[in-house]
Amino acid sequence: MTTVAKYSELRLVNTKGMFMQAMEDRYAIPAYNFNNMEQLQAIIMGCSESRSPVILQCSGGAIKYMNPTLLRSMVKGAVEMMADLHGHVPVALHLDHGDSFELCRSCIDSGFSSVMIDGSHHSFEANSGLTKKVVDYAHVRDVTVEGELGVLSGVEDEVSSELSHYTKPSEVEEFVARTSVDSLAISIGTSHGAYKFKLRPGEEPPSLRFDILEEIERRIPGFPIVLHGASTVMPEYVAMINKFGGKMEEAVGIPEEQLRRAARSAVCKINIDSDGRLAITATIRKVFAEKPGEFDPRKYLGPARDELIKMIKYKNEHVLGSAGRA
Ligand code: G3H
Ligand code: 13P
Ligand code: ZN
Repeated sequence: MTTVAKYSELRLVNTKGMFMQAMEDRYAIPAYNFNNMEQLQAIIMGCSESRSPVILQCSGGAIKYMNPTLLRSMVKGAVEMMADLHGHVPVALHLDHGDSFELCRSCIDSGFSSVMIDGSHHSFEANSGLTKKVVDYAHVRDVTVEGELGVLSGVEDEVSSELSHYTKPSEVEEFVARTSVDSLAISIGTSHGAYKFKLRPGEEPPSLRFDILEEIERRIPGFPIVLHGASTVMPEYVAMINKFGGKMEEAVGIPEEQLRRAARSAVCKINIDSDGRLAITATIRKVFAEKPGEFDPRKYLGPARDELIKMIKYKNEHVLGSAGRA
């Protein structure tokens, strides 16, 4: 029995239809993280202007930062704003890196249309058991669930990992069958944050493990795959940050061409947080450096929001292929 979806009060959709379309037409849905009003406005405006379906995504830390009650109203307003701007753009609200059943349940109960349960640090048994428990709670409420197999290096919502462990293709069929998850995050060489690789001068970032991705696609054909840690760490923003008093010399991300290739595959959702942080930080640093007397937050948060809109439109149009799909 399915109960009435809580998220329908917020006029959100779950990710099922989005992923089906993305799989069929070979593009990826953007999942942009947000922590405040300006980021949320930018995601809505960028995706409305590029007519891209979108997943609004926040971590447990982001929910605490915003306050869950305020977040719910902000998202309700954001969806209404999207309808005013361009009526037909599907919007999902997704919990990023949920680390417990209780957190997933509270998000589902408060109106999230999709949750990730990240049991990737546990054993296969414990991960599949926890994921199944979340799926059972979510599916009767028509909420979609993302699971994860394999570990990315970097910070995963307050859990940090030095080493990455690629997803083992031999485990995916069993995991999907046991849990009935709707999508699967995998580890093929991406990582969280702005320092994805340690490169020597002149060295290029290594290729993602497309061989692992292809083997996974072969084993679970047509199943939606998710790529975390997929920021490009856009060099123009890193350069701006360094030029205007910041210190991020070694920052490097996933080359765009590799993300384009992933978006054409079974990868249906691409997560982007760090690039948004960089766009905002670079712009604010520039304003502060050029106008040291400025103290009206609208005068630096406004330009930061504009830059984020530009970045989101660029990603949707030129990297993910999601522009014009809504
Ligand atoms: O994967 C992690 C996301 O970038 C969220 O980061 O936990 O700092 O909000 P956060
Ligand atoms: P980036 O740090 O590469 O933006 O990855 C974000 C992410 O995976 C959020 O879950
Ligand atoms: Zn992630």
